[in-house]
Amino acid sequence: MRRRTVAVLGLVALALVAAACAPNATQSALEPKGPYAQKSFDLFVPVFWVAVAIFVIVEGLLVLFVFRYRHRKRQAARIPAQVHGNTRLEIAWTILPTLILAGVAVPTVATIWDLAAKPTGDVLEVNVLAHQWWWEFDYPGQQILTANELHIPTGRPVYLTLCAVGFGYGAPVPSQGGPPAPNACQTGPPDSQPPAGIGAAVIHSFWVPELAGTQDVVPDLTNHLTIQADEPGVYQGQCKEFCGLSHAYMRFRVVAHTPEDFDRWVAEQRAPASPDVTGPAEDGKAIFLQTCVACHAVAGLETANGQPVLANGGPNLTHLMSRDCFRGCTLAMTDANLRRWIENPRAVEAGSFMPDYGLSPDEVDQVVAFLNTLE
Ligand code: CUA
Repeated sequence: MRRRTVAVLGLVALALVAAACAPNATQSALEPKGPYAQKSFDLFVPVFWVAVAIFVIVEGLLVLFVFRYRHRKRQAARIPAQVHGNTRLEIAWTILPTLILAGVAVPTVATIWDLAAKPTGDVLEVNVLAHQWWWEFDYPGQQILTANELHIPTGRPVYLTLCAVGFGYGAPVPSQGGPPAPNACQTGPPDSQPPAGIGAAVIHSFWVPELAGTQDVVPDLTNHLTIQADEPGVYQGQCKEFCGLSHAYMRFRVVAHTPEDFDRWVAEQRAPASPDVTGPAEDGKAIFLQTCVACHAVAGLETANGQPVLANGGPNLTHLMSRDCFRGCTLAMTDANLRRWIENPRAVEAGSFMPDYGLSPDEVDQVVAFLNTLE
């Protein structure tokens, strides 16, 4: 029995150690890579050591007393000196914790206010729309709408407005390039509630540990968060609040560029996709216009009756190939993954809102060929 307990404990310890070897091991709030994450970290470190000191003192005394005054058969009558009602002690252990808590509260409240303040000066604003189970990034005034990859310039605060979005119904409309709505996250009048079986907006939480603390994304609430990266690089993020079946697959990444590279990225993203395609991609485009357009937008593409293709619940695919990942940034952008995803979305993502159109393998290949032209 004891051996079994040891084995179980050993396995648990091994699992914990193995978890530290995950490919996203850099996803650590203890390695801040920007001023906003640094502020949280600078608060965390002293509070942590204060807590460690208190823990060691309190637990040390507890263990000491447990041993020292434990029940012994021959010394049944050994009762320690009683301090009940000792005024000095009572005052001391009331005042001391009050002072410690006050000492912790002052920098904590100051940091909360500091982080909550809207940054001034040269600020990039991005609307973040949290869907089940992917992230949409809308750059107001820039005609850029992308998914799962948030591109930012280094050395510049990025002020995020975060909204929770349902599937098509009662969803805040991305600015599609216009100015942000005054209440960006208002999901419309109560009668726009989704019909049964359609995804409602639920609570998510936005977290890029290396760049900032977490911020919940709550239906009908407009929340904000400021992030900033000092150095170019890729910073892993994820949804940190259980939001349904595929919550664990709701990842994203923040790609920080030098200001020059960021301007280049903006110019590329603003260009429309080339709608003129040939070969299998042309067949794929026809299939796309019959099925995928129900949810996915491609700027520059028109339906058979001349309507622009606008987003309706699914990620904007205009520059799909400029992204390295898809499906909540859990799949690398490869033909094999795209094929697997289109063939049977629910086999890849539990509870997926993406329907299986029952395309033949050839048709799937044609759609993938078309997607490959969306650079
Ligand atoms: Cu979104 Cu968890």
